[in-house]
Amino acid sequence: MKKSALQIARASYQPKLPKALKGQVSIKEGTPTESVADQAEIKKLFPNTYGMPVISFEPSNESKNYPAVTAGVILSGGQAPGGHNVIAGLFDGLKAINKNSKLYGFLLGPAGLIEHNYIELTSDIIDEYRNTGGFDIIGSGRTKLETVEQFDKGLEIIKQLGIQALVIIGGDDSNTNACVLAEYYKKINAGVQVIGCPKTIDGDLKNEMIETSFGFDTACKVYSEVIGNIQRDCNSAKKYWHFIKLMGRSASHIALECALQTQPNICIISEEVEEKNMSLDNVVTYIADIVAARAAEGNNFGTVLIPEGLIEFIPAMKKLIAELNDFLAKNGNEFAMIKKSEQRNYIINHLSPENSAIYASLPEGVARQLSLDRDPHGNVQVSLIETEKLLSEMVGKKLAEMKNEGKYTGKFAAQHHFFGYEGRCAAPSNFDADYCYSLGYTASALIAEGKTGYMSSVRNTTKPAEEWIAGGVPVTMMMNMERRHGEMKPVIQKALVKLDDAPFKYFASQRETWAKDTCYVYPGPIQYFGPTEVCDQPTITLVLEAQGK
Ligand code: FBP
Repeated sequence: MKKSALQIARASYQPKLPKALKGQVSIKEGTPTESVADQAEIKKLFPNTYGMPVISFEPSNESKNYPAVTAGVILSGGQAPGGHNVIAGLFDGLKAINKNSKLYGFLLGPAGLIEHNYIELTSDIIDEYRNTGGFDIIGSGRTKLETVEQFDKGLEIIKQLGIQALVIIGGDDSNTNACVLAEYYKKINAGVQVIGCPKTIDGDLKNEMIETSFGFDTACKVYSEVIGNIQRDCNSAKKYWHFIKLMGRSASHIALECALQTQPNICIISEEVEEKNMSLDNVVTYIADIVAARAAEGNNFGTVLIPEGLIEFIPAMKKLIAELNDFLAKNGNEFAMIKKSEQRNYIINHLSPENSAIYASLPEGVARQLSLDRDPHGNVQVSLIETEKLLSEMVGKKLAEMKNEGKYTGKFAAQHHFFGYEGRCAAPSNFDADYCYSLGYTASALIAEGKTGYMSSVRNTTKPAEEWIAGGVPVTMMMNMERRHGEMKPVIQKALVKLDDAPFKYFASQRETWAKDTCYVYPGPIQYFGPTEVCDQPTITLVLEAQGK
């Protein structure tokens, strides 16, 4: 494979480790823990892994001899920059424990474990992937590891390969399942430890003990670079409004961080829209008013950041989608027989008056996406809705009305963008390269100490890597009971943007100025070599959160 100059230069980067992981390690255990909510139910469901203490590692002078370990690793879910470094850190950590340790990688996600597809990860393979983006070393997948049949099938290959510990690198759902697996293997005395690692660009796997999920830093920096470039273009030609949708599934962390980095004219935060019970029309009017106010100053240009999950956070749209899902599930066959040109009217005539009015107000293309593109369960595929186009079209209409009323005199031309996949496999920033390597290395220390049902954790991340605190958090500690697919399940709480946390509060205090004036910041591309203030900064979200504590 031909390598780029950056890849070649970057291969020799030695990720920084917390002081505690650099030599001999001693383990410090805290007091027993409780789950964040529903303690009695979670305790009952996890009798073998509930209540374990938080662990931190400290430097030690005492040298210990650990036996060789054979471990397995799985990458689960969407790609996130730094995954390869988690595996490299795990590999190096296992070898440091005992040079005869071995690491197997299961291919294409959890399915690799169930279907017994794997490779042995040797130092030659690992060296090819150090500090690179992507998950292609072993591939990833979205198969959910959740049934006893799957656990038993996995155990067959685990036993065959002599694996004693499994590391699952994934988001909140994958780590929840890792904990269920840890509990099951402990219950049946399988002799297999399970350790999780917090991954997702979405940034929604975080809590008091997990400061950030890996990949968020790099992905936000990639998007912010491009948003900055667009803002410079927009400030040069002064003729377009750019509507930019950003990945992040439900949570608006990515949109918020990119706003903090680039200071756009508008950034919508889904969690705020929901909290304020805003309608689609409220969101459109909010944007149109800013467009009009800027136009009054002669500025017919600007930028709007839109989080991917917005539609589902607009309470009225949520109700419409729920009714559509129900209605199309019951009347799908009849609907399919109707001529395409009649389908919109058919739906308008059959929905409740309130939802019918909202549906009728939607642009043709979006209405079609809502009623036609459904997933295998028959549900609307909200993530496919082009919210950036929906909003710009509706803002255009609103501005035309305002023009008729003499409230707007400007020109409005829109451009649309969706940034998501562009950031998921970028070469990890120094922060993610170091953080991921440390997470992997920490996982190896947890394995050496015989732990199971823990998530690898690295804290104090706004400080230099030397001062980071490495350890483990019992996964049950992050759990509560939630309704999923009609059933109450123990799950890791998803962290959405909190309106009373420092990052949102800072954004809210600045947004009027950013809307009216042109305060764009141009972050430029991620730098891998150079001065610390350029290369080693954590996200603004992390910094503000640390200051707000
Ligand atoms: P994970 O939650 O698995 O990390 O994936 C995050 C994400 O990138 C979301 O931001 C996005 O909505 C989704 O994956 C896209 O999924 P897919 O890769 O299957 O298209």
